[in-house]
Amino acid sequence: PLPNHTIKELSKSQAFTSSIPSYYHALRNPDEELRPEDFTDEEIPVIDFSLLVGGTAMERAEVIHHLCMACSEWGFFMVVNHGIPKRLMDETLDAFENFFNQNEEDKNEYLGKHVLDPIRFGTSFNTSVDKTRYWRDYLKVFVNPEFHSPAKPSGFRNILFEYAAYTREIGKELLKAIWESLELKTEDIEVALDFSSCFQIIVGNLYPPCPQPELALGIPAHSDHGLLTILLQNGINGLQVKHKGKWLHVKPLPNSFLVNTGDHMEIVSNGRYKSVLHRAEVNEKSTRMSIVSLIGPSLEAIVAPAPQLVDLDHHLSFNAMRYKDFMQQQQANPLKEKSILDLLR
Ligand code: SIN
Ligand code: FE2
Repeated sequence: PLPNHTIKELSKSQAFTSSIPSYYHALRNPDEELRPEDFTDEEIPVIDFSLLVGGTAMERAEVIHHLCMACSEWGFFMVVNHGIPKRLMDETLDAFENFFNQNEEDKNEYLGKHVLDPIRFGTSFNTSVDKTRYWRDYLKVFVNPEFHSPAKPSGFRNILFEYAAYTREIGKELLKAIWESLELKTEDIEVALDFSSCFQIIVGNLYPPCPQPELALGIPAHSDHGLLTILLQNGINGLQVKHKGKWLHVKPLPNSFLVNTGDHMEIVSNGRYKSVLHRAEVNEKSTRMSIVSLIGPSLEAIVAPAPQLVDLDHHLSFNAMRYKDFMQQQQANPLKEKSILDLLR
């Protein structure tokens, strides 16, 4: 088995200041190699959140139209004018940085094995099944319907609570608009998804500088489970999104959030809106951080395509599965693009 030390620990050892162990050579795989012709420089759609919640009926309708395009053609969009205080965005990034800067014993208290552990500190992607290690340390915390938080560092808990509440509100508003864009009634769909106890998870990702960034990946190409992911970054780029068969380097607008639709949006929308593959590259100079706020149905909800979206022209694309079971299936299998969704076809 491959070692499970964190990147922070590895970076401290003198032997690896100029080269990385071969088990981090994720890009040696010919499918993953970076070739210029595999990249596109198209621009990700931008959604003005303030027009969705505070605009005229006509402005809201226009944004919903734009959202429909963004979700069906991209599965990724940037959100501006979202109203989350800049102070809170900075505090959240700092809080996670302070968590990662603690000594190993404090963090190792949360070394978890199980995908349903409410607080889990770890490294790489899915160490029990993957054949490669990735240049990433992470902390995953379940924040809704029950709020969890590591006790240390001091202040972490309050900031996490506030950040979770703000991003959950944004996510709920975006979801309402997305249901509207699919001509679904919010109430019907939220009952089906048991959304009064929606699952929310916050993940802090740490990508320290890597001496051989051309060989490693911070996180391999994957799609997210759940309905929506809201992503905050620390100003260091590195996220790549798959768009029409090519990779795109994401360059977020200042103060924006990046949002993507998840596997359960693909299921509920009966394939109209797809979850999109994305991955993170690393760099030689700077520490990159990202904070994921992911919103899904209740963990107990049995998720299936909305019946209103199934008809003679749109056959049922997915079988139903409990959200919790989906997560466990995903964890138990080696990552291969969106293979977990294929299990339900
Ligand atoms: C993720 O997909 O979970 C992380 C993406 C990023 O670091 O930008
Ligand atoms: Fe992701």
